[in-house]
Amino acid sequence: MTIRIDPFTVPPLDALPSELGFGRYFADRMFTQRFDAARGWHDASIGAYRQLALDPAAQVFHNGQMIFDGTKAYRRSDGHLNLFRTEKNAERFNRSARRMGMPEVPVDAHVEAITELVRLEARWAPAQPHTALYIRPVMIATEKDLAIRAPREYLHYIILSPVAPYFAGGFAPVAVYVPHDYVRAVRGGTGEAKTPGNYAGSIAATEEAIAKGYQQVLWLDAVERRYVDEVGAMNIAFIHDGKHLRTPALSGAILHGVTRDSILALARDLGLTVSEERIDFFEAIEDIERGRITEIFGMGTGAVIAPVGRLGYQGRDVVLNGGEPGPVARRLFDELTGIQYGRVADRHGWTRLIKV
Ligand SMILES: Cc1ncc(COP(=O)(O)O)c(C=O)c1O
Repeated sequence: MTIRIDPFTVPPLDALPSELGFGRYFADRMFTQRFDAARGWHDASIGAYRQLALDPAAQVFHNGQMIFDGTKAYRRSDGHLNLFRTEKNAERFNRSARRMGMPEVPVDAHVEAITELVRLEARWAPAQPHTALYIRPVMIATEKDLAIRAPREYLHYIILSPVAPYFAGGFAPVAVYVPHDYVRAVRGGTGEAKTPGNYAGSIAATEEAIAKGYQQVLWLDAVERRYVDEVGAMNIAFIHDGKHLRTPALSGAILHGVTRDSILALARDLGLTVSEERIDFFEAIEDIERGRITEIFGMGTGAVIAPVGRLGYQGRDVVLNGGEPGPVARRLFDELTGIQYGRVADRHGWTRLIKV
């Protein structure tokens, strides 16, 4: 792919804001390319971060044809940056594209676009502990047409945002709520695609959870409302007796998390037994009460690992590990973030160095 670098006067940036939040600030430049049926992907360029001009009848506004992904670049202690398993995110972007009837972006070209943009905008990568430069690729259907069918014109863009950990408390445990009246995804639906409808549909339930004093929603399967799917924007793991990690199998209704995949590999490296299976939520509650489940944690790019301190369902609360992060979560967090920030040897070949 040839990426045109548009002329750009780099504005002064003395220091990054101290309170970064998550997705509040954006780098000065963005990547864009367009697709149409005749030319395929074309016009790849990096230029100023700018507003998009779209027709009010563009399909994205009506049929919701949009996908996105999220990965990060990590500032190493030598000042250079590490991308982490970006190919996996590019592959997942294409999985989402296929499910939503949208064109795929060749993985190599996508990784090249991300690498080039991050290299140019590296000054936006923060250096404080646990911060990162979040990378958000997006694809939308731009064709002016209200028909419900695969559109023929698309825009693919990538923006960058310096971010703090997703939860303001960092590694502090989160309180998770299991909603009664809402489900997130069914097998055969769009649950394993990263498409905004899944997130829009989760907002009312998340607001309800927040109003009740929790931070995140744990979703049960949509048919029997019994088996664990995932938590908010994270996959979930249960630790039995400190040595067996169980996580819901990729059922078709949950996202194929890159963090999940990495944590499973690291858990095996650390000698834990790992199983991907159907997890009965009500059996899990009994196992927590009997002390057999010693930890639960979420896994996702935003928070990396978020220990669950409290689980609320049907008006009851159960507390995990005295509301403190557990030792397995801590070890896996240290190991994974160690690899991401370049402190721990990357024995799996997951990182790509960007020299800045
Ligand atoms: C619904 C959902 N599940 C799981 C995840 C975790 O995926 P990853 O580890 O690739 O960030 C995310 C975040 O992308 C998500 O949005």
